[in-house]
Amino acid sequence: MILSSLELKNFRNYVHERIEFNTEQNIISGRNAQGKTNLLEAIYLLCITRSFRTRIEKELCNFESDECTLKGEFVLGNGNKRTIIFYYQKKDGKQFSVNKKKVEKFSSHIGQFPVVISSPEAYNLTTGPPAERRKFIDIMLSQINIQYMYQLQEYYRILKQRNSILGNRRYSSNQITKLLEPWNLGLVEKGSQIILERMSFVEEFKNILRNIYSQISTTEEELNFTYGSKIQGKTLEEIKNRYDALLESSKRAEMEQGTTTIGPHRDDLVFEVNENNLRKFGSRGQHKTVLISLMISEFELIKNKLNETPVILVDDLYSEIDPKREERIMEFLLQLGQLFITTTNEISSLKDKRINRTAKYFQIESGKIRYVK
Ligand SMILES: Nc1ncnc2c1ncn2[C@@H]1O[C@H](COP(=O)(O)OP(=O)(O)OP(=O)(O)O)[C@@H](O)[C@H]1O
Ligand SMILES: [Mg+2]
Repeated sequence: MILSSLELKNFRNYVHERIEFNTEQNIISGRNAQGKTNLLEAIYLLCITRSFRTRIEKELCNFESDECTLKGEFVLGNGNKRTIIFYYQKKDGKQFSVNKKKVEKFSSHIGQFPVVISSPEAYNLTTGPPAERRKFIDIMLSQINIQYMYQLQEYYRILKQRNSILGNRRYSSNQITKLLEPWNLGLVEKGSQIILERMSFVEEFKNILRNIYSQISTTEEELNFTYGSKIQGKTLEEIKNRYDALLESSKRAEMEQGTTTIGPHRDDLVFEVNENNLRKFGSRGQHKTVLISLMISEFELIKNKLNETPVILVDDLYSEIDPKREERIMEFLLQLGQLFITTTNEISSLKDKRINRTAKYFQIESGKIRYVK
């Protein structure tokens, strides 16, 4: 899939810009706070229906405006054209349309316009709390498997009900036990399916990731990746049994804490480089290398499953990695698909980097985008 043009109206620090992109590489240069990440955010939003930076959508409108619009013209792998429009109004919220047809259910949009991103702001994936890693795996699995997304939605709906019962201090423990009963079955059912999906995904993904990481990192480094859950099992039955048992034994803790203490909403993904926990011991370059390897692995996986090439957004590529790694990363990226790379480096200093001659360069200054020859 290719994004051929993008129009932004009152989006973040853009007033009105229209950009024609290159079908291969697009290098976007600009100093800090000029609008580079905002531009990637706009592309991501058109594909995923949500921002990767905020849940508060009114932040997307320019400070001076109550509404904002994005229009992206996409060409799918089969040559079909799709125009996606995002329109947000502070009063009524957001709307999407594809080829002028209103998108009724945002979930049906996800996975149709695949995108992968590596951005320090998209996920504090390797440094942040477990919730960041769950968000990563959930968004990726939702793009390739819509059923997974529905299961997840259902799980969180049940969890919310359950937590509101547990958190209600007016109930006695007997009452709570009774009220929870009808929710437990669904919780274990949906929760177990999510855990199984995530575990089998990690098994498949681990090898791709490991392979890419070892090709990019120029030193002898081995990356390991596991799914961390109290609820372990090889089959759905095993997981359900373990889940049931743990739910039973954590009854007391749940009542004390007033919330559901085990389940996929508490699980984590663990990265280790040479058997050391990355989150605790990783260097900045290692974190960056893992982030880029994750994005490339995600790209491969989505491309294979969906038969559509995701667009690739790389925010701030050239910081924190040494020239050797940078060269290898570029070698990889150049053969993938349509690339959008932002950098604070000057365009003139990029000419000797490994970028294809066909690349298109853009300069961003205070929300104004200029094409540079
Ligand atoms: N809703 C908004 N309206 C107007 N300006 C905004 C809005 N949201 C963010 N900005 C401005 O956009 C700028 C940040 O843009 P962005 O995050 O894209 O910077 P960047 O070019 O990626 O910088 P860096 O290199 O530091 O990452 C800031 O100056 C911020 O004030
Ligand atoms: Mg930025």
